[in-house]
Amino acid sequence: MSNETKPQQQWCVVENCTEIAEKIFRLSFKFPQLAAAVQPGQFVNIRVSETEEPLLRRPFSVSRVEGDLIEIMLQIVGSGTRILSEKKSGELLDVLGPLGQPFHLQAEFDTALIVAGGLGVAPFPLLTAALMKIGKHVETFAGFRSAQQECTEHLENIHLATDDGSRGFHGTVVKLIEDYLEKKSTAKYKIFACGPTKMLMALTELGKRKSICCELSLEGQMACGVGICQGCPVELIDEEKKYALVCKDGPTFLSTEINLREAN
Ligand SMILES: Cc1cc2nc3c(=O)[nH]c(=O)nc-3n(C[C@H](O)[C@H](O)[C@H](O)COP(=O)(O)OP(=O)(O)OC[C@H]3O[C@@H](n4cnc5c(N)ncnc54)[C@H](O)[C@@H]3O)c2cc1C
Ligand code: FES
Repeated sequence: MSNETKPQQQWCVVENCTEIAEKIFRLSFKFPQLAAAVQPGQFVNIRVSETEEPLLRRPFSVSRVEGDLIEIMLQIVGSGTRILSEKKSGELLDVLGPLGQPFHLQAEFDTALIVAGGLGVAPFPLLTAALMKIGKHVETFAGFRSAQQECTEHLENIHLATDDGSRGFHGTVVKLIEDYLEKKSTAKYKIFACGPTKMLMALTELGKRKSICCELSLEGQMACGVGICQGCPVELIDEEKKYALVCKDGPTFLSTEINLREAN
């Protein structure tokens, strides 16, 4: 399924911006055309400020749609995300979207295994709603550094892991899903994952070992976000076409299509 909807740029009114976990915010704004068109896995590119640095747009997964409202989740990592986290209700935001290719929901599986590492959780509320609408069973594996970063609203059947053991399973989310698959192996699964590259690489191996289709959403750094600057390459396994662009051909890719490296 490719994204045929032309992205639109719009000034949007901020509805709300709330801290939901340590340095993690939920920001909502009104964008009716985007709310009607966006599919799970797609993202928006937001110009965080007209006057201050950084002037480049910043990409964020669409996390949820509620009527005309679009919700994103953001984690403060630098100046752009800090400025966004300080937005107040009624302020205007320059948003471009929907961008990128959505997750593929129609493949042959009955149970979706959603795997999120940290803020990789962001695209999954929207995906969960879409999967449940078409009758798929959803199990969610979410891993965080500690309980303070936990943000799992609007997800289904949550299995939690933390690196420091402060909540849920003490260890990685990949170990958690491996243990789950050891116990249950009767369903026809598909893995949907988003998070650090190391986690995605481990899931690629797991998918291979267990013959489970695995679709990954990549969150590498971007500049233009629309396929012009060539600044977001990912290596393809296909030797004829060496690279794809994360912003235009992704951010979703089957794990069997790409060669992930630690720098992705
Ligand atoms: C398709 C896509 C979807 C994304 N969705 C979300 C989302 O839903 N929520 C969210 O919080 N973030 C998301 N991100 C990441 C987000 O875009 C970056 O965190 C943001 O651009 C950082 O901007 P900044 O100005 O705050 O930080 P900068 O000042 O640009 O960077 C601060 C530090 O973070 C590092 N950094 C910046 N971006 C990334 C990145 N993508 N990966 C690893 N390190 C990075 C920089 O190298 C630097 O060390 C997404 C990225 C992509 C490509
Ligand atoms: S960010 Fe410019 S081509 Fe992808």
